[in-house]
Amino acid sequence: MNWGMKNRISRIIMPKTGRCVMLAVDHGYFQGPTTGLVNLGKTVKPLLPYADALMITRGAIRNWIDPAVDIPIILRVSGGQSILKELSNEVITTNIDDAIRINASAITCSVYVGGEYEKETINNLSKLVDEGEKYGIPVLAVTAVGKDMARDARYLGLASRICVEIGAHMIKTYYTEEFEKVVEACGNVPVVIAGGKKLPEMEALQMSHDAVSSGAVGVDMGRNIFQSDNPVGMIQAVRAIVHEGKSVDEAYEIYEGSKK
Ligand code: 5RP
Repeated sequence: MNWGMKNRISRIIMPKTGRCVMLAVDHGYFQGPTTGLVNLGKTVKPLLPYADALMITRGAIRNWIDPAVDIPIILRVSGGQSILKELSNEVITTNIDDAIRINASAITCSVYVGGEYEKETINNLSKLVDEGEKYGIPVLAVTAVGKDMARDARYLGLASRICVEIGAHMIKTYYTEEFEKVVEACGNVPVVIAGGKKLPEMEALQMSHDAVSSGAVGVDMGRNIFQSDNPVGMIQAVRAIVHEGKSVDEAYEIYEGSKK
């Protein structure tokens, strides 16, 4: 791995803890005006001091994020479908030149193993890895799940390992029982979990705790933070688990306490 790529990864995964809290707000690329992100700028601004990196599209950055802000960008560069159509039908929407102009610390696309367009999405990843290697920009592969896809360790391990073999530098997947098997399948490639649909706060904190206890380096969480009744308290609580090794109860106290 070249120096630039290592440097960019160390802006995302904090060298001090070896962990990271990414804030995902890229949902609009196929979901449109997602609850909590209609005014993306207003939602994200108070959360930025607690996020290690921001996962977002180029259009959202240009509309809602102040270029003076100091946050590593994980640029979503795939899309081309909507929730109304086949989800796996993704293409690369943003070229590497624009990722460099945006000063992206990483680029990301989804891979739909088992989906109708499985091959095309694996091909998207391989092209990004080739471009990323050329310019020292790491690629985060998202093991997306279509409507009918299982979310067990066997499937997520299969999908994650394929992304590793294609050359992804970081993996984002879903938490499941026996998550350590998914992490093991990824070798030395760091794994983060997506939050998925909004859960009660205690459950989302438990999931974050279980994920890092099973070997994940952190979370790339969206709805369970920005759709919470206390988004700032929630991201602080997730940080406490990921970076400080706090228990779920201690983290919940942080979430509740910050309401006051
Ligand atoms: C969509 C994504 C989203 O960024 C991801 O789902 C994370 O957000 P959430 O925690 O809300 O699931 O990668 O494919």
